[in-house]
Amino acid sequence: MESIKLGLLGLGVVGGGTWNVLQRNAEEISRRAGRQLEVVQIAVRDLAKARARVGHDVVITDDAFAVVNNPEIDIVVELIGGVTLARQLVLQAIDQGKHVVTANKALLAQHGTEIFEAASAKGVMVAFEAAVGGGIPIIKAIREGLTANRIEWLAGIINGTTNYILSEMRSRGLTFDQALAQAQQLGYAEADPAADVLGHDAAQKLTLLASMAFGIPVQYSRAYIEGITDVQDQDIQIAERLGFRLKLLGITRRRADGIELRVHPTLIPSQSLLANVEDAMNAVLVNGDAVGQTLYYGKGAGEEPTASAVVADLVDVTRLHTADPGHRVPHLAFQPHSMADIPVLAIEQVRCGYYLRMTVSDQSGVLAQIAGELAKFDISIGSMIQEPADQGTATLIFLTHVAMERDINEAIGAIETMAIMRSKVTRLRVETF
Ligand code: HSE
Repeated sequence: MESIKLGLLGLGVVGGGTWNVLQRNAEEISRRAGRQLEVVQIAVRDLAKARARVGHDVVITDDAFAVVNNPEIDIVVELIGGVTLARQLVLQAIDQGKHVVTANKALLAQHGTEIFEAASAKGVMVAFEAAVGGGIPIIKAIREGLTANRIEWLAGIINGTTNYILSEMRSRGLTFDQALAQAQQLGYAEADPAADVLGHDAAQKLTLLASMAFGIPVQYSRAYIEGITDVQDQDIQIAERLGFRLKLLGITRRRADGIELRVHPTLIPSQSLLANVEDAMNAVLVNGDAVGQTLYYGKGAGEEPTASAVVADLVDVTRLHTADPGHRVPHLAFQPHSMADIPVLAIEQVRCGYYLRMTVSDQSGVLAQIAGELAKFDISIGSMIQEPADQGTATLIFLTHVAMERDINEAIGAIETMAIMRSKVTRLRVETF
């Protein structure tokens, strides 16, 4: 059978890895796909560098539109990142009747609805396994492996940079700034780490997972996003003594009144599997009503781990290239006409446990006053400890039972006005799954 023709947009980290895997494993891949996968054109910025890497059998251009408009090409592999140009290129490729494989979570989180609609109208596939969790086949699992289930919730460590930083803060006692500098030196963090440390990268991935888990539209703008820049090393150490570990989690949960969709630093029991996902590794825990909890673990970034996902998509698309579009796996797991418009809940409506740390004047009756204030908002205390503090003050840490975020906010507001307070209240969310 004739080879399927690929056009690559980008030959950077992921593009280069994809090229390597396609060359090295060509025979295995074609045995699986049923035909050869042949890269016929690559768009890059630096032509000489690309030529040195891929030789002379492939057409190289610095015009990405030449690739998406090339009538010979069946699948466009978008690996340039960014949103504006990538959106134009992907929509143009779809318009030209080409399938698209992309690793671009930002693009799909922001423009997924438009892109998937355009692809459905044209009867082409847009595959994006590499956009979430790098080499972990989490999209395959949710879209196909778990289709029997009503998915109740999922929680994931889906950003390796922040997981590395938090791991170093905990295990080596580093501050956030020290751990970030180390991550940058080792190449885990970008020179501009904002998208990672502010939680945006994780929220983009979570938005896509939530859409596939619950059959809801992609709604990145509704996600609650809190990164790790304000995490204090002392809370990591205190939490550890209390049997909890701090992770940047993406959590999405189905509730009777809507969907929780949130990324924030979260304390989880130190013994749990997720808590022991360390360094730059990723993992996603999915709870389905039939299967129970399943865990997916692996490298969430890097040249060949991400290429592994890109090439898996290429094989899938190749296998289904000639299938009736109506018989392919839907882009977002649910048939487009069966997507549900379940509301995404505001963060104030979220319910979880809370860790509250505060420094107070060390005098009689203080504890009773704070407990009384929490009780006014129906917040039940699970446990409390007192840590050593400066002369005349005490640091109190409360772990609450599950409460609503709005009530916690109001209780914190009231507590912070009390005369006995010597600090603001530090609040961390707690999940036990
Ligand atoms: N920068 C991401 C991370 C990988 O640190 O996990 C790409 O999404």
